[in-house]
Amino acid sequence: MKKFVVEGGRRLCGSVKISGAKNAALPILFSLLLTRGESYVENLPDIGDVRVALAILSSYGVKLRRTGESLIADTRDLTDAEPDESLVRAIRASSYLLGGALARFGRVTIRSYGGCNFADRPIDMHLSAAEALGALRDGDQLCAQTLRGGRIVFEKISVGATVNALLLAATAQGMTEIYGAAKEPHVGALISFLNSAGADIREEEGSLTVHGTGGLLSGGRTAIIPDAIEAGTYLLAAPLTGGEITVAGAIPSHLGGFLPKLRESGVRLKIGENEITASGLPTSSVCVTASPHPGFPTDLQPQFSVLLSQVGGRIRDSVFPERFGYLSALSAFGVRSDLQKQNGSAVIYPSELKNSIVYSPDLRGGAACLLAALAAEGESEIRAADNILRGYLGMQEKLPALGACVALREET
Ligand code: EPZ
Repeated sequence: MKKFVVEGGRRLCGSVKISGAKNAALPILFSLLLTRGESYVENLPDIGDVRVALAILSSYGVKLRRTGESLIADTRDLTDAEPDESLVRAIRASSYLLGGALARFGRVTIRSYGGCNFADRPIDMHLSAAEALGALRDGDQLCAQTLRGGRIVFEKISVGATVNALLLAATAQGMTEIYGAAKEPHVGALISFLNSAGADIREEEGSLTVHGTGGLLSGGRTAIIPDAIEAGTYLLAAPLTGGEITVAGAIPSHLGGFLPKLRESGVRLKIGENEITASGLPTSSVCVTASPHPGFPTDLQPQFSVLLSQVGGRIRDSVFPERFGYLSALSAFGVRSDLQKQNGSAVIYPSELKNSIVYSPDLRGGAACLLAALAAEGESEIRAADNILRGYLGMQEKLPALGACVALREET
């Protein structure tokens, strides 16, 4: 395992190029199983979760050629396989096999999928979407000789279940209407890729209409959209260190309710078409509720709690009400908080940050700890840093380029 060693308390200034979005890349990679042909994917970030997804695809016979951040994937000769359990358990996105492998091979084994364990991660909505299109469950097998279009109504917004509904509907026979679909930017990115491969998916007011092809798609072409969560994470490093940071290549609308809340805290923002600059210190306490897009992203609430440690505030998460485990790691940095389990919220009190040594609790909790370490004077260590490298490309280069004293080392 690796660790970040940080000498904190330095002002971070400069511009950082935002990489391709993990949560956009993963659905698109698994959707390759629906295609028979060559697909071209640009701006693919070389991060841990992407490597795992590519290894899973290879086990089905997908031929992959990567040069830098460009990928050519040949899916003309695939075999139904059982990917290695350790790979499936490593990432949550392997749940997209329920759509991709079922649509391609007519059956898939229902596994326990990985991902950050900050909350219960059920798949009941994925399975009910598959059953709505004709899939049948037989023990741990999900089978569908023929997938037929139908009507899918999600009672709760789920990114993953929306992805799998799209993967199953795209090649089904007939039309599917999906109500209550997630509207995250990466869902739109998946739809664009699928349509480039011959699917017919239309985003209408309140629903998605899919005219299934009744057969496999051809190869498609896309460039992964910039990672809004990476952008938000770097923007927070500016007010936390008294610096000024520009995130280049970011798309402001993809950050949902994050920018208005950052501005409400008193941080100065300059918002361009595809770059955002943050500067100045936070001056006002803020109450945040994380909610599905276009709300405040749940994947930025751990990081935002570090900003709130400077001015006080309250965070509620309506997506994952129990997503506050990271606060125990942040308490080692001096962040004072009260968890109010009954209403799924946390009060963050103004706190004096101090250096510490912690283990990264999960991807975004680890990023929050890294932000606290950058803000606190003195040397800190964030161990189990592989948890963070899963979803952030090149932090060990990007942070020093902003003036941070950060080194990535092997844990001894
Ligand atoms: C995706 O997870 C992201 N992961 C998460 O990002 C992100 O936090 C989440 O969407 C919300 O935006 C990837 O894209 C790989 P959900 P997902 O299904 O799809 C409940 C990160 O840090 N639910 O939208 O698993 C669920 O419990 C990661 O990059 C069911 O009840 O999230 C939650 O309360 C962390 N039944 C809510 O829906 C189901 O069958 C939203 O979860 C599925 C979900």
